[in-house]
Amino acid sequence: MKALLFLGSRRQSSPPQPSRLGERVCAFLNAHIGSRFDATLIDPLDYPPTEVFKPAFAYAASNKPAHLAKLERLIIEADAYVMVSPEYNHSMSPALSDLLNHFPSSAFAFKPSLIATYSSGQWGGTRAALNMRSYLSELGCLPVSAMLHFPHADKVFQADGEPAADQDAARWAKYAGRGVEQLHWWAEAAGWQRELVNPFVASPVFKRTPVERDAP
Ligand SMILES: Cc1cc2nc3c(=O)[nH]c(=O)nc-3n(C[C@H](O)[C@H](O)[C@H](O)COP(=O)(O)O)c2cc1C
Repeated sequence: MKALLFLGSRRQSSPPQPSRLGERVCAFLNAHIGSRFDATLIDPLDYPPTEVFKPAFAYAASNKPAHLAKLERLIIEADAYVMVSPEYNHSMSPALSDLLNHFPSSAFAFKPSLIATYSSGQWGGTRAALNMRSYLSELGCLPVSAMLHFPHADKVFQADGEPAADQDAARWAKYAGRGVEQLHWWAEAAGWQRELVNPFVASPVFKRTPVERDAP
């Protein structure tokens, strides 16, 4: 099964130090996700923001930018998503939401996601994680109940994603493993059900405007 690991930071600046702390969090998670999934890292630096926001679904198929078309294909083909976000002002990172907003919810729908947040502070991004739950539910990739939070991620992880020498690496591995196992269980279950019943027959993709799903 395929999983996409979204790295939610474009912050190549300091302070605060170090920048792109998310790289080490993703390196740590990648090692664990790899036990259950064929994982691909999606880096928002490969999708620089444009002056005008134009989501992939606003282009005609014939002139959709190639990098957006390619990522949309990866999202559609994935069985699960790991959404890794720093906490910025108690919210998920704008780099992550900006990238995800480029794609239709139908590309993510009927598949599970795992929320992983981090910060250099003591709460590990838990406040961001709470609003990620409603965001990802709206996107259609329902978050599993286990959430991963990494407080003081700059001290917990070394630059290569390995836990620092003073950390209990086995406990961090067990902690991450619970989230990955939940994601795997749901990804498998959703995959079988998608094979049996096409979800878009009963719940068609809306094509033009959100009023297509309005109450009468
Ligand atoms: C604009 C901004 C807002 C931040 N807000 C929070 C916050 O609300 N809570 C927190 O614990 N850390 C906050 N931080 C600190 C981040 O946790 C820390 O800078 C982390 O390294 C960000 O991840 P990144 O380096 O991968 O971008 C903030 C940092 C920035 C740049």
